[in-house]
Amino acid sequence: MERLAKKDVLRADQFTRDEIELIMRRAEGYEASLSRGERLNVMEGKVLATLFFEPSTRTRLSFETAMLRLGGSVITVAEPKSSSAAKGESLHDTIKTVEGYADVIVLRHPKVGAAEEAAAATEKPVINAGDGAGEHPTQSLLDVYTIRKERGKIDGLKIALAGDLKNGRTVHSLARLLKNYAVSLLFVSPDPLRMPRGIVDELKDRGIEVAETDDLRTAIAAVDVLYMTRIQRERFEDEAEYERLKGSYVLTRGMLAERGGGLTVMHPLPRVNEIAADLDGYPGAAYFRQAANGVPVRMALLSLVTETG
Ligand code: NCD
Repeated sequence: MERLAKKDVLRADQFTRDEIELIMRRAEGYEASLSRGERLNVMEGKVLATLFFEPSTRTRLSFETAMLRLGGSVITVAEPKSSSAAKGESLHDTIKTVEGYADVIVLRHPKVGAAEEAAAATEKPVINAGDGAGEHPTQSLLDVYTIRKERGKIDGLKIALAGDLKNGRTVHSLARLLKNYAVSLLFVSPDPLRMPRGIVDELKDRGIEVAETDDLRTAIAAVDVLYMTRIQRERFEDEAEYERLKGSYVLTRGMLAERGGGLTVMHPLPRVNEIAADLDGYPGAAYFRQAANGVPVRMALLSLVTETG
C-alpha cells in the first residue's frame, strides 16, 4: 500500500498496472463513502497547495474538493498574475517557498517539463496537473476510472482518441496509461495534429494495436469508447492555422443514429464546439460523469502520496 508514499505524480507512464489498480480501488472506496455522506478526516491537519499558472476549472476545483472531502485544507494560486511569478520569481524559488507551507503541491504550468523541475526542487510530493502540451497524468487516471465504470472493464476495448492529438496533454497521458491494458487504439485527427510519433512507437513496442485516421465517422462505427478533445488554440503559433482546423470535428447526436446506443463518449472538457449540446442526453455521453469522477480519483491520489509509508 505504501508504494506511492511520498512519490511525485509527473507522467502517466510512471505507473505500473498494479499501481493504477491500487488507485482505482481506493477511489472506488472513496466514491462509496461520499455517496453514503460520510465525513472523512484522513487528511486532517494537512495542507494542499494548488499552483495554477494556466486556466483551469475542473482540475483545480476537483483537487481542492478532494482535499476538503478528506478533511484537509487548501491554499491556492489560481491567478498567475497574483503571485510573485509575475514579478519574475523562478519556479524553483516559488516551490521552495510553498514547500514550507504545504504537505503536497499540485502544479499546472504552461511549460513542458515544469512539474519535473518543481519536483526536483522539493522533497514534498508534486503532482503534475498539466505541463503545457506535455502530460496530464491525473486526468488520465480519472479517464481510466471512468472507462472502467462506464464499460465494466478496460481490457478488450476499442478506444478512439480524437481531435488535437499533437498538442493535447490529456490524450498523451491517456495513451501512455492505456499501454498497461490489452486495448486497441484508433487515433483520429487532421494530419497536422497527429499523435506524436514517439508515443505511437511506445505503444507499438508494447504490442498495442494502433491505427490512425482523419475520419471521425470511421471511429464512431468501430469503437466502444470515443474520447473527443478540443483543438488546443493556446498552443498554436499561427492563428490562421487554428482557424483552419478548429471545426475539424463536431460530433452531433445525428451522427450516432446508425450506431444506436452502446458508444461511450468522453471529453476532458472544456468543449468548444466539438460535441454538440444535443448529445448531452445520449445515454453514453459520459463527460460530466467523467468530470465528477475527478474527485474520488484525486482523493485517492492525495491520500496515497501523503502516506508516511
Ligand atoms: C484539459 C487540460 O487542461 O489539458 N482540461 C482538463 O484538465 N480537464 C483539456 C483541455 O484544456 O482541452
